[in-house]
Amino acid sequence: MSKKDTPMNSSQNSGSGYKQKLDALLGKIRSLPNDSLEKTIAVAVGVSLFCAVFVSLSAVALRPLQVANKKLDIDKNIVTVAGLISESEAGEADLVRKALTSIETRIVDLETGEFTDAIDVNAFDARKAAGDPELGMEIPRQDDVAHIKRRAKYAKVYLVKGDGKDKLDALILPVSGYGLWSTMYGFLALEADGETVRGINFYDQAETPGLGGEVVNPKWRAIWKGKKIFNKQGEPVLGLIKGNVDPSKPGSEYQVDGLAGATLTSQGVSNLIKYWLGESGFGPFLEKFKQSKPKTLEGAA
Ligand SMILES: Cc1cc2nc3c(=O)[nH]c(=O)nc-3n(C[C@H](O)[C@H](O)[C@H](O)COP(=O)(O)O)c2cc1C
Repeated sequence: MSKKDTPMNSSQNSGSGYKQKLDALLGKIRSLPNDSLEKTIAVAVGVSLFCAVFVSLSAVALRPLQVANKKLDIDKNIVTVAGLISESEAGEADLVRKALTSIETRIVDLETGEFTDAIDVNAFDARKAAGDPELGMEIPRQDDVAHIKRRAKYAKVYLVKGDGKDKLDALILPVSGYGLWSTMYGFLALEADGETVRGINFYDQAETPGLGGEVVNPKWRAIWKGKKIFNKQGEPVLGLIKGNVDPSKPGSEYQVDGLAGATLTSQGVSNLIKYWLGESGFGPFLEKFKQSKPKTLEGAA
């Protein structure tokens, strides 16, 4: 092979060939009159190309930051719903991280209601798993009261440590269900008795702000505290009613004020409680949990 024909030389040649062609094209465009149609189109295409490349590169570069922010938002939701920090403190990432040290995350097999170590808790993503043929399942239509179609076979539960050494203080369950416009994803925190509500919050929903979007209003969420989930027969009956709850009426401990002008979102919230606290959701797990009445994280394991 002569020196002239080496692969390096041929690629350099083709590279400089392209550069020459590009220079010639740019020269041709520059030489066109400013008000010509060809130059206007060429400049518009050039600007569009530049913007497209810029936006694509920005999206790729910002992706890790977006993922980290999403995780922080979910963590904030978890620690505030458990009452470990206040809503106003949730803006401080250090406080969120510190509060998280009081929480142990476990995986539950929803069918058996047992904790399992077969799934890596750090890698598990219930939303992704729902669509996975191995890790997810289709919810039979008659059971799908929350209108979510599929769910993961496993779920993360969060055990909240109390003041005493490894004392169990609360339990946080992920919940999701369809509202009017969107699937609402959130957390329900229960006291250690497994049946009294400590708090509820939603980290991902697209209901109308001021109407269904009031599911995230702290004032409305505060009225959930102390509500009971299960009736005497052990059925999950907690739900939203139209209007305000009359505390003097029997059964008010199972009722929460509906959201004004958002009956469909309110219905969606009632449905998601019914589903996730029922037989097809955390029912088997909560049944076992309540029977064992764990006072410590060890006991809950
Ligand atoms: C622009 C617009 C947005 C709405 N957003 C919601 C919503 O997020 N959640 C909801 O339940 N209803 C929403 N509604 C109202 C529903 O269409 C329906 O009228 C309402 O749920 C009935 O509730 P009410 O009986 O409390 O009035 C919206 C209506 C309009 C016109």
